[in-house]
Amino acid sequence: MKILGIESSCDETAASVVEDGRVLLSNVVHSQIDIHTVYGGVVPEVAARSHIEMINPVIDRALTDASLTWDDIDAIAVTYAPGLIGSLLVGTLAARTLALTKNKPLYPVHHVEGHVYANFITEQRNGLSLQLPSEQPKFPMLALIVSGGHSQLVLFHDHGNFELLGQTQDDAVGEAFDKVAKILGLSYPGGPSIAKAAENGNPKAYHLPKAHMQGAYDFSFSGLKTAVLRAVQAEVGVDTDFPSHELAGRLNDAQRADFAASFQNIAVETLVDKAEKAFQDYAPASVVIAGGVAASAELRRQLSARLPIKIEYAPMSLCTDNAAMIATLGYYYAQKMQPTSPFDVEVIPSLSMTKTAWAK
Ligand code: KG4
Ligand code: ZN
Repeated sequence: MKILGIESSCDETAASVVEDGRVLLSNVVHSQIDIHTVYGGVVPEVAARSHIEMINPVIDRALTDASLTWDDIDAIAVTYAPGLIGSLLVGTLAARTLALTKNKPLYPVHHVEGHVYANFITEQRNGLSLQLPSEQPKFPMLALIVSGGHSQLVLFHDHGNFELLGQTQDDAVGEAFDKVAKILGLSYPGGPSIAKAAENGNPKAYHLPKAHMQGAYDFSFSGLKTAVLRAVQAEVGVDTDFPSHELAGRLNDAQRADFAASFQNIAVETLVDKAEKAFQDYAPASVVIAGGVAASAELRRQLSARLPIKIEYAPMSLCTDNAAMIATLGYYYAQKMQPTSPFDVEVIPSLSMTKTAWAK
């Protein structure tokens, strides 16, 4: 069964074809990062306008790259939640129109749950050469989902059957990377730029606090972000009234690298502490990480060092937003669910994956 996936929830316009929920046939991602970098973050109206321009060419390209025509496509899967409303509308409208005109079943899927399914892609064709896991994860599967909007630990008993063990009580970890990057004068998105700066830094240079939470698997990252701000102010010798956008100009490269390394180390350690606790308590058959922050080499290093299980990681390009993960998840929805009428698909900007139609 070949599924065309469409993703446009934030600032990537993406389309992909995946066969049987495991074989990647094409993967097209048009990133808007260049457009948003000048603003230091995603501007919703600008994102929606760019999606409108790119959605049709990106979908056409996904079919061409897969050497397929519409006759070969069995169903369409599209992200309907969560995300920026204008961005979600472009992808879902394209998917609804195509489902009607090409007469294909349509499966609206959840973006965050989709991130987890990047880990189910184990084969590829058509000249793609990603470093893929050697086998699919097994259930029960512990998923650490870490992105710009989410930080959560989810235990999957099966496809569509999962429980939320814990989540962030304030900022998402990716959001913390982005905000700390801004404080340090590093470019957007913060994850990769902090990782790069941290290469030359000492992770023990600054003492930053770890949040202690009520819930055993819950996270908090807003205190850490503030701690970095206070430490930078102290380091450059200004008080809290000093404009924070001018702080970075007072840091030299060595200080910037040390702050990046110290922050990255604690943020990752916090994630791994909770994942380790969940691993001990639930003894899952596999552990996966998902979402943009799963691209972090430091997270992979610490997780593999501390968890007594072999962890296979999805390639970096399938960790950040893409449509291959959406097409893959769409396949499993199609095994268990009736398609949704194209007239009934609505976008939901804010929705927990535990509230999806198929979540048990
Ligand atoms: O999943 P994603 O592409 O978009 C959302 O659905 O949020 O995640 C984007 C987030 C950004 O906050 C970005 O800073 C972070 O993922 N990120 C990273 C890395 N690459 C991207 N964080 C840490 N280390 C990285 N290498
Ligand atoms: Zn995402």
